[in-house]
Amino acid sequence: MNTEFHIPVLLNKAVELLINPEIKEPVFADGTTGGGGYSKKICESCESLKLLVCFDKDLNALEFSRKKLEQYSQKIKFVNRNFADLKIVADELKLEKLSGLVLDLGLSNYQLTDEEGFSYLRETKLDMRADKSKMLAAAEILNSYDKENLIRIFRDFGEIGNEERLANAITGKRKSGKIETTFDLNGIIESEYRINSTALNKFLSKIYQAIRIEVNGELEDLKKVLEDSFELIENKGRLVVVSYHSLEDRIVKNFIKEKAFTPSVSKYGKKETGAVKKLKIITKKAHLPDWEEIKSNPKSRSAKLRAAEINE
Ligand SMILES: C[S@@+](CC[C@H](N)C(=O)[O-])C[C@H]1O[C@@H](n2cnc3c(N)ncnc32)[C@H](O)[C@@H]1O
Repeated sequence: MNTEFHIPVLLNKAVELLINPEIKEPVFADGTTGGGGYSKKICESCESLKLLVCFDKDLNALEFSRKKLEQYSQKIKFVNRNFADLKIVADELKLEKLSGLVLDLGLSNYQLTDEEGFSYLRETKLDMRADKSKMLAAAEILNSYDKENLIRIFRDFGEIGNEERLANAITGKRKSGKIETTFDLNGIIESEYRINSTALNKFLSKIYQAIRIEVNGELEDLKKVLEDSFELIENKGRLVVVSYHSLEDRIVKNFIKEKAFTPSVSKYGKKETGAVKKLKIITKKAHLPDWEEIKSNPKSRSAKLRAAEINE
């Protein structure tokens, strides 16, 4: 491993908001276990913890965390699954209840420094699959998608502007050979745009973000887990989400608003009573890392935390 597996962002706030002391013997899910920083803090902070279900679709993350959290192994179930499978996993594990879900979206440091395709700074294969059982790696997408689909990715997931120019550069390059590595992709962009290195790096991160979202279906998974967690989480249980770019944050913000102001009849176990379920917003504005955290961990600078509580 090149560096620390991951430095958790907004750790104390995320865990503090997840745990509602009114709920005894809670069952929590950490949807994005990564290096296990949040999970460890949950185990340390919640004496009456009944169970913590640790999801990660990246097997490397789960194996790392399993070792790190060995001392709490009796209270943890590790699942190498997508958090979008929350409902299925809850059924499989026969969970009696769910008292809260925390999501810390995006990538771990390990994925950037040791896995293939996520970082434009290292020459590796253009993979970008967090879950290696997924069908299409980044290179396959870049080599096979038609122009319209490439435009869609760069517009919807990168908001880069004039997406057609980039799509043309990629389809043009394909005529003379396959795009296989991160540096192949960087080369296309460098020669098409000829911009200074600061602007280039910013541009590359948007482009890599867009491709990564497509490869991993990230926004669809997020929408699904939000809806499902709303059904599953018990009264007074919490939903805490840390996001790192505006597309994710918009989804979380709109979801919380919608459920706060358009309450729905609870479907989960309350059919007879027709109880109305809604979200109470805990963070009126997104909670951000302070200056000290950003200084010691610059990758935290784009983080936004939002939290809400189930209210029936
Ligand atoms: C930013 S890291 C989480 C770090 C963690 N909070 C910690 O304290 O170490 C994000 C992790 O979520 C995982 N992940 C992202 N999307 C996922 C999904 N849809 N299902 C399961 N895991 C996911 C990634 O593989 C990565 O390991």
